[in-house]
Parts: sequence; structure tokens; C-alpha cells
Amino acid sequence: MLEHRVQIQSWGGFAEGCNNLFAHPLLSEIGAKHGKSGAQAALPRLTRRGVVANPKSVRAERMAENIDVFDFELTDDQMAAIATLDTGSFLFFDHRDPAVVGQFGKRRLND
Ligand SMILES: NC(=O)c1ccc[n+]([C@@H]2O[C@H](COP(=O)([O-])OP(=O)(O)OC[C@H]3O[C@@H](n4cnc5c(N)ncnc54)[C@H](OP(=O)(O)O)[C@@H]3O)[C@@H](O)[C@H]2O)c1
Repeated sequence: MLEHRVQIQSWGGFAEGCNNLFAHPLLSEIGAKHGKSGAQAALPRLTRRGVVANPKSVRAERMAENIDVFDFELTDDQMAAIATLDTGSFLFFDHRDPAVVGQFGKRRLND
């Protein structure tokens, strides 16, 4: 993707709050070590890996919270700990499933 100048973006970097993300003990603990919330602890793992985070909130205070993440860095151990939260399964639909891709293709053709 770098070679072709394609930027990876995280649309749904909070997983829309699934899996107790905003109150997850691990994220809350890591955030607290940096004087941050659990939500704030989640975002640097994306940016450090070159992913543009695109967190959404309708609340001004949360927008401010979500952008206030560039004054601390996760340790390698914290990066690895957060990686263990990956369940290895898709939360909404599987973009790699040909049937799902086919459905999107049909929608575009019918637009
Ligand atoms: N997920 C997708 O499949 C998808 C597809 C197309 C486009 N997008 C775009 O990608 C962006 C993000 O996706 P998304 O909205 O689906 O999911 P998301 O950013 O993972 O999660 C949004 C949810 O997190 C809550 N939230 C945000 N910041 C918070 C904080 N600091 N503490 C606690 N709760 C917080 C929001 O609630 P409040 O708003 O009440 O704060 C909202 O319920 C949006 O602009 C969306 O349009 C996503």
C-alpha cells in the first residue's frame, strides 16, 4: 500500500464501542498510567502502526478527548498487551468473504 501511496484508515477504530471497549479494564489501566482514558489508550496503537484513526463522536468533549492523544506514547509492552484484545474475528461483516464482497458489488451495480 505504501508503494502505491494508499493510506490505511480506521473507520470504526473504537469498534463502535463493542466488546466493552470504553470500559475495558486493560485499556483503562494503560490509559490511567498515562493520565488518559481507556479510549485515548486505544488510539495510539493505530497511529503508531501508520493507520489514520477516524474516531467519531457527536459530543464536543469526546472529540477533544479523542484528539488529545499525541502527547504520550505506548510502551512496546502496552502495544503488545492491546494486541491480545484482537479476537481474530470480524465484528460486523467479513470484507474478505467473497459473498459479502459480492453483495457490495450488487449494491453498486443497482445504485
Ligand atoms: N464502522 C463502519 O463500518 C464505518 C463505515 C463507514 C464510515 N465510517 C465512519 O468512520 C467513523 C468512525 O466510525 P463509527 O462511528 O462507526 O465507530 P467508532 O468511531 O469506532 O465509534 C463511535 C462510537 O464511539 C463513541 N465514542 C467516541 N468517542 C468516545 C469516547 N472518547 N468515550 C466514549 N465513547 C466514545 C461514540 O459515541 P458518541 O458519538 O455518543 O460520543 C460512538 O458511539 C465515522 O465517521 C463513520 O461515519 C464507519
